[in-house]
Parts: sequence; structure tokens; C-alpha cells
Amino acid sequence: MHDQFPPGFLWGTATASYQIEGATAADGRGQSIWDRFAAMSGKVAGGATGDPACDSYYRYRDDIAIMKAMNNNAYRFSIAWPRVVPDGGGTVNGTGLDYYDRLVDALGDAGIVPLVTLYHWDLPQALQDDGGWASRNTIDAFAWYTEAVTARLGDRVKMWATFNEPWCVSMLGNELGQHAPGLQDRAVALQVAHNVLVAHGTAMPIIRAHSSNCKAGIVLNMTPAYPAQETEADLRRAALANATHNEWFLDPVMGRPYPQIAWDHYGADVPEIAAGDMGTIHQPVDYFALNYYTRQVVHDPAGGDGKPLHRRDDANVSDRDWEIFPAGLTDLLTRLYHRHPHIPEWYVTENGMSLPDRLVDGRVRDPRRIAYLHGHFAAVLDLLKAGVPMKGYFVWSLMDNFEWAFGYDSRFGLAYVDFRTQERTLKDSGLWYGRVAAENRLVAP
Ligand code: FCB
Repeated sequence: MHDQFPPGFLWGTATASYQIEGATAADGRGQSIWDRFAAMSGKVAGGATGDPACDSYYRYRDDIAIMKAMNNNAYRFSIAWPRVVPDGGGTVNGTGLDYYDRLVDALGDAGIVPLVTLYHWDLPQALQDDGGWASRNTIDAFAWYTEAVTARLGDRVKMWATFNEPWCVSMLGNELGQHAPGLQDRAVALQVAHNVLVAHGTAMPIIRAHSSNCKAGIVLNMTPAYPAQETEADLRRAALANATHNEWFLDPVMGRPYPQIAWDHYGADVPEIAAGDMGTIHQPVDYFALNYYTRQVVHDPAGGDGKPLHRRDDANVSDRDWEIFPAGLTDLLTRLYHRHPHIPEWYVTENGMSLPDRLVDGRVRDPRRIAYLHGHFAAVLDLLKAGVPMKGYFVWSLMDNFEWAFGYDSRFGLAYVDFRTQERTLKDSGLWYGRVAAENRLVAP
């Protein structure tokens, strides 16, 4: 049937440690760059921090109950490095690892496959004090941390991601300053990006050594750039945006040099590359993992008629002002699959929509989120029809959580969280998603 997904398709949700766990001082956890950043005035909406977030350090059983209620068979979460190695490079904190041990076992009991991300942005502050990702010492520290985690969980966890969204780690945090550590220095940001990719390549064999027959890779976010008009100037601008935002991170992982047009554009800010780095970055990956939310439409006024002209549909946006454009997912993954047909498994590891949800009489009506997800699931059916081996989908997010610089004001969850009581309530979208997962087909909204 044309609305059916293949047997064994993974239906899950995604979260990240700092966004849900809370308990930032419990059981020997060290400080992370996000604890520091959120405490600085004016960095996060409403002065919010990752405490208590969803209190998942204590309430993970409630989280798993929501997954079960949605008939999910997979869950993507991340590990907080400062829980495991509180000062970044020294002693391993067994008590911190115990938490993930309990979580993994509870997921196993519930029949839910874990996909574990090693780095979803909470770098130990001690490492940042020594230069953070701009320093190559952090690459060694990441290898040590990877060793500790995979030695402990590698027998049960068989899906691993090294990094979540290196673009955000590097550019959003170090060039634009909107995320921790809040720097605004392009040269530093590009060195961070390079070192993160080297750390990815360094970690891959360590993961494999401790987790036999696992699947390992990296999660990239891509926002494909479309020209506003088919002019030479707009086409050039779109190519540059694709190169800086997307290909800069993908190409080295796939064994290619940094894209030339971006390299030229960055001039003196390009990173230092040590001998052997490009080979280290280019490790075989077992899957392709994409976080997809929106596209960008770019325009070069100098080459056009002088005033910015957007073809994007401004009426069709989320409350984050992100255009809703499912066709971008189909375009992008079709193109990438043709370029990398040797990669056997393709996943959407994040996709979802922020809305100003309200809990009224025990119910959250969020038809726009259902329509958003429906559109993107349909795009996956198109990809399957085109021969792309799509194997799973992780909606962002399991529940409302600490949405970085937006604090608790940007709700992406399939479950609504009342942050005063920590009560979780499935939204209409979560109920609908439960039917999709149970029937393994695209259920009408
Ligand atoms: C992605 C992040 C994730 C969440 C969503 C909305 O960039 O990976 O943690 O914040 O955006």
C-alpha cells in the first residue's frame, strides 16, 4: 500500500541531555558550558536554565511511559559529558554513568531501541576554560570520554552518533554567539568546526571497538538554500550558503576537501589542518542522519533589482519563523543519496515544530503540528518510492523542554510539560503519532 512504511521502520523521538535532565548538580556532575552560558544575563529568554528542565534524571520512567503510549520502538537521547567526566579530561564518574545504565536497561525492558548521541552541546566548562573545541586537547578528551561511555554501554547500545549538528556547535556558539560558549569570532568558530570533525573521526573506531556490530555515524543539520530568483547572483549566493552551512560539514566526513567556494569566501579565517586530519575525519559511516526543519531562500540584492525578494511563503511558518517546506526534505535526501549510494541506512534524526501550545481541559489541540509532521512523513514515503533506504524517523521532541536560547517558551514536544508540576500530557499530535507508529503507515490527520 502506498501509505505503508517498510517493516522494522523505527518510529521514535529525540531529546538532548541538557534540555531534559535537570539535576545539574546531582551525583558529581560537573559544570557544562550551558550551565555557565544560561547563568549569564540576557542569553536565554526569561533567564531560564537547564534546571529543572523535565527533571528526566529522576523521571525517566515517566518519559518511557510516554514513548510506550506512542507505540514508539526507538528513542534518541544524548549523554551529558560532565556527568561522566566532570572536569572533562580526568576521572570517570561511575555514578553519572549509572544513570545512563538504568535508562538503557529500562528502554530495553520496554522494547525501545536506543540511539545515543555522545555530544549534544554540553561541553564540560573545565575544557572550555582551556580553549574548548578550538584546542586540540579537547579532541583527546572526547576520545577518553567516548571510551568511558562505550565501554560501559556498548554491549546494549548498538546505534551511536558522535556529534549533534556540528554547524550549531561551531558557528551558532562561536561565530554568532547565540549558543554557549557565546563567542563571536569566525576564525575560532571554523577551528572549532574542524576540531569537532577530527574528534568525530577519532571517536568512530573507539565506538566500534567497544560496541560490536554497532551502527555509528554523525548527525548533521542541513538547511538547504534555494535561490530567490534564477539569476546568476542568486544562484551564486545559494551555492555559497549550501557550501558554508551544509557541505562544509558533510564533505570532509565523506572524504572530500572543504568546499572551495566557502574556503575562498572565508579567506584568512580558514582553520589550521594538521597532517592526517582529513583522513581521520573520513571514517566509514553506517548510516546517514539528517536533522531537517526548514529551508532558506537567499537573494543577492546587488545582482537583482536592488530590494530583497523572497519567494518563501511567509504565511506558512512556525512560531520560530521557520518556513514549512517538506519538499526540501525530499529534494535534499534524493540528491544526497545519489551522491552517496553506498550508505545503507538513512534516517531523519530530528524534525518537528514549535507552537504556542495551551493545555485546556486536559487536552492540547495542535493540528498545525500534525499537518507539519504529516507533510514530512509523506516526503519520506516519496523518498522510499524513489529508492532511498529510509529506516527511521525521530520527531523533535518527545516532550516540551529547555529550548536553548528560547528557554521554555518554544514548545516542540509531542507531550506537553507543565514545568511547575512536571506533569506530561500527550498532545493531539502525540496521540496521532502513536497511531502512525502502531499502524506503520501514514494515518490521515
Ligand atoms: C536542533 C537541536 C535540538 C533542538 C531543535 C529544535 O537544532 O539539535 O536540540 O533545539 O533544533
